[in-house]
Amino acid sequence: MENFLELLKNRRSCRRFTDEPVSQESVANIMRAALMSPSGHRINPWEFVLVENKETLRQLSVSKAAGAQLLDGAAMAVVVIADTDKTDVWVEDCSIATILMQLAAEEEGLGSCWVQIRLRKDADGGSSEENVRALLGLPANYAVLSIVAIGHKERDSKPFDEEKMQWEKLHIERFGEK
Ligand SMILES: Cc1cc2nc3c(=O)[nH]c(=O)nc-3n(C[C@H](O)[C@H](O)[C@H](O)COP(=O)(O)O)c2cc1C
Repeated sequence: MENFLELLKNRRSCRRFTDEPVSQESVANIMRAALMSPSGHRINPWEFVLVENKETLRQLSVSKAAGAQLLDGAAMAVVVIADTDKTDVWVEDCSIATILMQLAAEEEGLGSCWVQIRLRKDADGGSSEENVRALLGLPANYAVLSIVAIGHKERDSKPFDEEKMQWEKLHIERFGEK
């Protein structure tokens, strides 16, 4: 296991994947991370749709105008949905689950990328969320936050450059105080 800060440094968005499938063990570990995510009041509004079917991945890749094409080359995707009747903090809960899956993927030696669906539109101005709903048969009370594309990295990206860390965003005791 990598040191946690090294894991954070090495997790970079991966948009190009090899054809190698993801092992069932890695899939299980990524889903374990998702299902251990903290959520407000432990309501766990999130649910996850695991997609490996190539044609479904292709259709997800055109569910929004830009930034989703990479899904077409991914070995798999996890669509992060939530029952919005359960809680008003489903966006936060689903966001945490999304990033934890990305970190778990990195821990497995895999690449991943967050594909935003909430509030996004397709090339014709239609709702990305409605496209995903229709494709996956989601009930009306379920919202879609994101899709996590996962696969073996075509190549490693440079780790996060600590020289670019924005320490100026840190305020000590009061805003503006360094
Ligand atoms: C809320 C959110 C939405 C994102 N949506 C997309 C997306 O739709 N498509 C995409 O290619 N990358 C998306 N990303 C990835 C960001 O572009 C990426 O994290 C950022 O540029 C920093 O690069 P890094 O992940 O390599 O550190 C998203 C990231 C976040 C946190």
